[in-house]
Amino acid sequence: MADAETITELAKRRGFFFGSSGAYGGVAGFYTFGPQGAALKGNVEASWREQFAVKLGNEEIEAPTIMPEAVFEASGHLDGFDDMLVECAECGESHRADHLIEDNTGIEEAESLPIPEVEELIREHDLACPSCGAPLAGQPVEDFNLMFETSIGPGSGQPGYLRPETAQGIFVEFPQLKEYARNKLPFGVTQIGPAYRNEISPRKGIIRVREFTQAELEQFIDPETDEPPLEEVADEPVTLYPATKQEAEGTEYVETTIGEAVDDGVIADAWIGYYLGIAKRWYQSIGVDMDRFRFRQHLPGELAHYSADCWDAESEVGGDWVEIAGFSYRADYDLTKHGEYADDDFTIFRQYDEPKTVERAVVDPDMSVLGPEFGGAAGDVAEALADLAARDPDAFDGETVTVEVDGESYEVDTEVADFRVEEQTESGEHITPHVVEPSFGVGRTVYTLIEHGYTEDEVAGEARTFLDLDASVAPTFAGVFPLVSDDRLESLAHEIVSDLRAVGLEADYDDSGNIGRRYRRQDEIGTPFCITVDRDGIEGDGPDTVTVRERDTTAQVRVPVSEVVSELTALRTG
Ligand code: GAP
Repeated sequence: MADAETITELAKRRGFFFGSSGAYGGVAGFYTFGPQGAALKGNVEASWREQFAVKLGNEEIEAPTIMPEAVFEASGHLDGFDDMLVECAECGESHRADHLIEDNTGIEEAESLPIPEVEELIREHDLACPSCGAPLAGQPVEDFNLMFETSIGPGSGQPGYLRPETAQGIFVEFPQLKEYARNKLPFGVTQIGPAYRNEISPRKGIIRVREFTQAELEQFIDPETDEPPLEEVADEPVTLYPATKQEAEGTEYVETTIGEAVDDGVIADAWIGYYLGIAKRWYQSIGVDMDRFRFRQHLPGELAHYSADCWDAESEVGGDWVEIAGFSYRADYDLTKHGEYADDDFTIFRQYDEPKTVERAVVDPDMSVLGPEFGGAAGDVAEALADLAARDPDAFDGETVTVEVDGESYEVDTEVADFRVEEQTESGEHITPHVVEPSFGVGRTVYTLIEHGYTEDEVAGEARTFLDLDASVAPTFAGVFPLVSDDRLESLAHEIVSDLRAVGLEADYDDSGNIGRRYRRQDEIGTPFCITVDRDGIEGDGPDTVTVRERDTTAQVRVPVSEVVSELTALRTG
């Protein structure tokens, strides 16, 4: 395990990530991924896409990152996507109140407490401003909306927001996406892209930033009929930390399997269980240390405004547990809201196995019966009557019935409305699908891989550092070196680099510095193999050979040049 400073130093020196716009003084919460980091992140995204889009048969889309205000009014983010802020009266610095409490008192649940209780905790523990030391007791704690606002178009324009989650880009397109899915549930839609949150106190390097990449899957299901293929992951062992255990004293994990956890009701929903199993396998496949990985259920007060239940995948980094993905049961929250606010149909037609005969309350479809006294409103009044008849037939029990149209009340004689109950044959009904959402933070996954891979050992009595990155995601798959400066060695090394690149293996030519330093550099960026071209290998009678060195053991083997590509391809695919 390495501390945050060690990782941040290595990340900058070796080109994984560093604070951006440094030439202009930098700005907190924004990071640039350097050449190694961008390659590692790209490989993580490719691996995620392979698992969650291709292998699971889901579609992928790419929606804009700026969306109009109405979207976030509907989604609840305008009202409910807040963190608690306390501003120091002395130096003007803003701090996240719940973090302040957690950092100074160890109390973790401040995030889910109401503001007066948070103010009380600040008072009770006599907390001070971390920037200037002035007391914060008595300062008001306020809700701070995390969305970045912008205006669309010139002039005052139309208000817009940078999306705080990629998910909304999928939900708002549901009326179109369901057509592509031929109006059949279940179907899933994925998206990998940036999300933005104006975090009050960005911290821990790329762990809490203001712009980050999410990889999200929105699984649309019919909650009454659709079941996940749970048997595929039923035997998968998992470490669970359910809400009930967190509420009890101490840390008591449940070591179980996905199948048992769903059967025992520890995981309430089978779809959530299914995705926890798939996700665990995926994290393991890209090199997350499973001894430092768990699934933790949200406490009721911790749930996001849209979530009915949520489990986080957490990795332990620098001694802290960090959420790297969330698996939320969003139920019909999002589609119902967009259905209410938007002018489109966010339902799907559920076909019955057999047509059903049902009794339906109806009113006269011919609105002319309403007569001239209803003027231009006759059509809307007839429609309101029909809606009311379908929703609440008892409303027609009296002599008159009242409906509201555009704020005006209209009283209609029930006989004139021709209210009656009719038998109808129906082939199905409209339902609002439920959503199960696995949502991954790509930057936090990258950080976890670097931190879990960070290893210090000794080679020939000398200290060395290497990143034990999995070959499937390492930024460079092979470093290729001519041992000494020699035209023949250099040209063969270049040839090997081209051959490896031609089959899609990332290869890096390096002839600078002594061979030991070249190995160290590749070790520190997690390159699994180094190929060295030396005179011994090309001057004998037999076929030309090179040495292939494995990163973790530093063991070297001689391999004929003609077999390098096939050998390394086999090592990459395992
Ligand atoms: N659509 C659901 C959603 O956005 P979330 O738990 O707020 O859920 C999902 O975010 C993931 O995005 C988190 O598990 C985390 O990995 C990542 N994430 C969230 N806020 C972040 C931030 N400020 N910096 C870096 N990653 C963040």
